[in-house]
Amino acid sequence: MPIRIILIGPPGVGKGTQAALLEERLGVKPLSSGVIFRSEIEAETDLGQLAKSYIDRGELVPNGVTIQMMVKRLRSDDVRHRGFVLDGFPRTVRQAEALSEELDREEIRLNGVVSLEIDDEVVVRRLSGRLGCTKCGEIYHSVNKPPKREGFCDKCNSPLFVREDDKPETIRERLRVFRENTQPVIDYYDAQGQLLRICGDRDPEEVFRDVATELGVLDQA
Ligand code: AP5
Ligand code: MG
Repeated sequence: MPIRIILIGPPGVGKGTQAALLEERLGVKPLSSGVIFRSEIEAETDLGQLAKSYIDRGELVPNGVTIQMMVKRLRSDDVRHRGFVLDGFPRTVRQAEALSEELDREEIRLNGVVSLEIDDEVVVRRLSGRLGCTKCGEIYHSVNKPPKREGFCDKCNSPLFVREDDKPETIRERLRVFRENTQPVIDYYDAQGQLLRICGDRDPEEVFRDVATELGVLDQA
């Protein structure tokens, strides 16, 4: 039975880091709306151009295009086969409702919704040092997880980059947008009894163990 998980949490809590561990250890397909938008920007598509105008300011991309983009991915054969770990979607109640409709229609049940929690100051520290691989997407941190060779990926040797929206003023705006739009999504899943709260301010391996244990999928790792 494929594993299906939603990871919710503020910017920098480690959603991408945990999604990568879930893929590595359990083979689950990561679906990050942020990663997909950044690849659309890179490819200079119309959607990428639209998304960039919001992302660079730390604002949310409109619900309509975001829902359409994610539902299309959820219907792919790879995702049906491998399950999914959603990272960064849903981020508004409208998106959560659209996702519930899609899952109901396909008769898909979630293993759970994980809310990763962390203080704002830790977020700012983490994002200020984040580096990402331009090719394989591996995530590093200049202090917590430096690459072996400065500026290059350990896994594929491609150059690393700093995200445009990781400037201190944009990070603060993203935190504000999270509280305003995404906190209600956490409440939405909590009211449905699907929510698991996990502290994200620990070593990534400890966070992973907790996530997998709470979801009851550790024995599959
Ligand atoms: P998105 O790409 O989803 O960004 P985000 O939610 O702000 O989250 P981040 O990717 O910044 O953080 P993360 O939680 O993945 O942390 P990471 O693992 O990298 O979205 C970007 C933008 O796209 C949005 O602002 C919006 O404009 C748009 N968008 C996306 N989805 C949308 C949607 N559904 N609707 C509308 N708009 C949407 O870790 C961060 C750093 O910390 C790394 O350096 C890492 O190495 C380090 N780290 C991670 N875990 C630990 C740990 N346990 N201990 C120490 N360091 C750690
Ligand atoms: Mg991320």
